[in-house]
Amino acid sequence: MTTIQSLNACSDADFVDALRGIYEHSPWIAARAAQARPFASLASLKLALQSTVDAASIDEQLALLRAHPELAGKAAIAGALTAESTDEQASSGLDRCTAHEYAQLHALNADYNGRFGFPFILAVKGPTGRGLTRQAIIATFERRIGNTRGDELREALRQVHRIAEIRLNALLGITPSLGAVVMDWCEVLGALSDDESNLTCAYMTPAHRRTAAHIADWMRAAGMTVHVDAVGNVVGRYAAAQPGAKTLATGSHYDTVRDGGKYDGRLGILLPVALVAELHARGQRLPYDLEVIAFSEEEGVRFRSTFLGSSALAGSFDMALLDAVDSDAVTLGDALAQAGHDVASIAAIARDPASMLGFVEVHIEQGPVLLERGLPLGVVSAIAGSSRYLVELSGVASHAGTTPMGMRRDAAAAAAEIVLLVEDRCRNGDALVGTVGQLNVPAGSVNVIPGACRLSLDIRAADDAVRLAAVDDILAGISAICTRRGIGEKLFKLLEIDAVPCAPRLMAQLGAAVEGAGLPRFDLPSGAGHDAMRMAQLTDVAMLFVRCGNGGISHNPLETMTADDADIAGRVLLDFLLDFSDN
Ligand code: GLV
Ligand code: MN
Ligand code: MN
Repeated sequence: MTTIQSLNACSDADFVDALRGIYEHSPWIAARAAQARPFASLASLKLALQSTVDAASIDEQLALLRAHPELAGKAAIAGALTAESTDEQASSGLDRCTAHEYAQLHALNADYNGRFGFPFILAVKGPTGRGLTRQAIIATFERRIGNTRGDELREALRQVHRIAEIRLNALLGITPSLGAVVMDWCEVLGALSDDESNLTCAYMTPAHRRTAAHIADWMRAAGMTVHVDAVGNVVGRYAAAQPGAKTLATGSHYDTVRDGGKYDGRLGILLPVALVAELHARGQRLPYDLEVIAFSEEEGVRFRSTFLGSSALAGSFDMALLDAVDSDAVTLGDALAQAGHDVASIAAIARDPASMLGFVEVHIEQGPVLLERGLPLGVVSAIAGSSRYLVELSGVASHAGTTPMGMRRDAAAAAAEIVLLVEDRCRNGDALVGTVGQLNVPAGSVNVIPGACRLSLDIRAADDAVRLAAVDDILAGISAICTRRGIGEKLFKLLEIDAVPCAPRLMAQLGAAVEGAGLPRFDLPSGAGHDAMRMAQLTDVAMLFVRCGNGGISHNPLETMTADDADIAGRVLLDFLLDFSDN
């Protein structure tokens, strides 16, 4: 039986021999990594192997990639693969392709190799380690073939490391079962959607309520007492051994954007639920009440109101929002009443700051920073502030065929200028980003000059002064564009939230837990908004980021992570909870 201890204790030659199949036909990687022994954990062994490849020459990296077989290629058909590759390709059914699939893969292999000069590499055992479907493999192949060579080279190397990770798990007899359970739960929730063709879980829709019910069931099964509050937050409490203890809270949101990813928000709810199940199974209580809070709304999709769930807990819920209407003219107040919630009880949700020890949120990074550094986890230093507006432009609708170009008051053309203004103003700012995510011509027709156009603005920066200066410039620019074009302009502010620093004392404890897992502590800011921003009005906050795959894409169904990363995040969060100190 191979263990980290036996790998640390054996000779260099035996170490290389033990890791023989981990990197395809490339024993030099283990030979060099052997010099970095002893390894504190599997995570540090993986990092050492990865660093060896990162430090290698480009020719060595290309040789590593070229040592891999094509998927369902000639070597596979001829039975000439390594035992590891044979097993992996079979786990995805690549040995049972239809004639059409073989033809597709054959053409893709040839095209890919011609473009990039190395074979397409994909860890076909996938994010959970249980195997991707052939359809998923072909879809990934078709998508990645459009990448630039530089991006694809880095992605191919990351896939090589993922293959190595899965092979190392098999060698050491390790299964990231906690991470796999959490990913399976995300899959279950991902199937509950407002839209048949994608994952959309907007506030207080039937899918949203069913999602809440699933979460509540899992919390109860994990040994928590559960209540759903008047704004739909699902709150699971794992009571301390002694009554009267203060509360340490964790959690995230369960609503999603339209056509969103499965892990955004949900990971931060389900990971601690799985940990509580472990604690409960071994009869272990914590010295504080642990609450796992599934916040009902963070994304602002249905009522353009963000952080509904966490603002209620923080005592900053804006009751005027009860009159906000969705696209079907249903008010927020009515949506709550129809779901059986009593809006009169919202004020009572607010927590007493004196009862709180802190709030820690686990979240998928939703960006490429950890992925590019090859790190599964990061400690968030601060969360970027954000300004959001809705802009309504009014021009004059008139005939597309008869109105001379110089006589038009085209609201969509003004909006187009505004989109470019936002892009231009935010392009060179310091950690500044600006987005027009909604843009529409209400009741537009092909043959009518747009008389109205609505667009959204989302401007964010880590530094509040940088963001506010950009907002001022953009709003002034919009006025100038509208004046020049004879367009009316109405501006509605949807959100203004300052950047939120994470509490150094909680960051230090999270960082210690990360290091305890054999990983370096790496701090990074969050560009995305999170419930922790509102919870910071109530108590100290910290966040743990988990690496996001597929180039770091999020707010997209391609958002992905691995069971291994979820698992190590769970171990780190558990250590943080067990070692938590209120100093
Ligand atoms: C939430 O996901 C946001 O940052 O918009
Ligand atoms: Mn989101
Ligand atoms: Mn989120």
